[in-house]
Amino acid sequence: SSVAIILGTRPEIIKMSPIIREYERRGEDYFILHTGQHYSYSMDKIFFEQLHLPEARYNLNVGSGLQGEQTGKMLGQIERVLIDEEPHAVLVQGDTNTVLAGALAAVKLHIPVGHVEAGLRSNDRRMPEEINRIMADHASDYLFAPTEESRQNLVHEGIPDGKIFVCGNTVVDALFQNLSISEETIDPLSELGVRRGDYFLVTAHRQENVDDARGLGNILKGLERIATEYAVPVIYPMHPRTRKMMEQFGLQAGAIRCIDPIDYLSFLQLEKHAALILTDSGGVQEEACILRVPCATLRENTERPETVSAGANILVGTGPEAIVEGARTMMERERTWENPYGDGTAGKQIVEVLDAEDKFAAESGQS
Ligand code: UD1
Ligand code: UDP
Repeated sequence: SSVAIILGTRPEIIKMSPIIREYERRGEDYFILHTGQHYSYSMDKIFFEQLHLPEARYNLNVGSGLQGEQTGKMLGQIERVLIDEEPHAVLVQGDTNTVLAGALAAVKLHIPVGHVEAGLRSNDRRMPEEINRIMADHASDYLFAPTEESRQNLVHEGIPDGKIFVCGNTVVDALFQNLSISEETIDPLSELGVRRGDYFLVTAHRQENVDDARGLGNILKGLERIATEYAVPVIYPMHPRTRKMMEQFGLQAGAIRCIDPIDYLSFLQLEKHAALILTDSGGVQEEACILRVPCATLRENTERPETVSAGANILVGTGPEAIVEGARTMMERERTWENPYGDGTAGKQIVEVLDAEDKFAAESGQS
């Protein structure tokens, strides 16, 4: 029996990497199915290389498209692979269109689905990700919830407790596994010419923020004001979606240093030594919290409320003045919070749960 690991975007490659490593370590049978949702070198291949991940057995090369179009293309092609391969379980991670397509294809073929990072809710249905999370959770047989709070969200939606496994978030495993490697091998701060604690780090790519000229314009305005007020570099590794929209809207970055998306090992050190992180990314909110770097989230809500209640994060939205205010607040924050996302063994726990279920099925003749 084997497990199909379905992934397609930057955060899925990073957050699935601890699980892939665990399967490699155990020498168990699994394969990677890449949808090709992300395909630019800096959003895809660079992470396979840097994290030493084996190549995907399948790459569907689906590419970009409208929500339904992209998801639909994946659905049909994933189904075909699953029929050929007959895996005993499918793993998906997070909230992208790849996750929705993977979970849906598998559940209809009666293949058990494990959802890594289950139970997150922003309660904002304008986000494509919120729809994907809800649908994937309700299609899943194993819900790997990162925290007690995410478990509660699932229970409230009527998902049986026995399907839910609280095991932390694999983002912690990945960070622990790679930060020291990064520190031993590269020096991204020198390369960028910035000093520890003396720059701000920004990422923003959410559709609701950047596909709207006013929203994106406001974010850039807020960031410029911060750059002026604190007179420090504001480094913004820019997602291709944001780059495209800036060009389309004819927006200028002014004092903000926009660079291409960077590799994971460099990004981790940039996060660790930032004076402050401003982001609308899910994974970056978590990593800031784990690294004890204050974060201001450029959104009105978050599916990572643990970071806010820990004191690591505040929600500032996209108004320029609110961004400046939020930065001031977080610059004063004492960095004493605890990481709510587990001890870095999530990947191992997830593989153990699936192995135990597989063994049970074999013994009871269901396999
Ligand atoms: C997707 C996910 C989002 C996740 C993000 C991670 C959905 C609905 N969204 O958003 O949840 O946070 O990935 O980064 O699944 N593009 C490139 N090269 C690439 C990929 C994208 O140039 O390799 C550009 C294209 O212009 C494309 C746009 O980015 O149209 C958006 O890509 P898409 O995959 O639709 O969504 P993301 O914004 O990347
Ligand atoms: N990341 C990276 N390089 C960058 C920006 C982000 O390696 O230039 C990593 C980051 O460390 C985190 C993940 O990408 O692990 C977050 O992905 P993203 O923000 O694209 O997606 P989200 O988490 O919002 O779904």
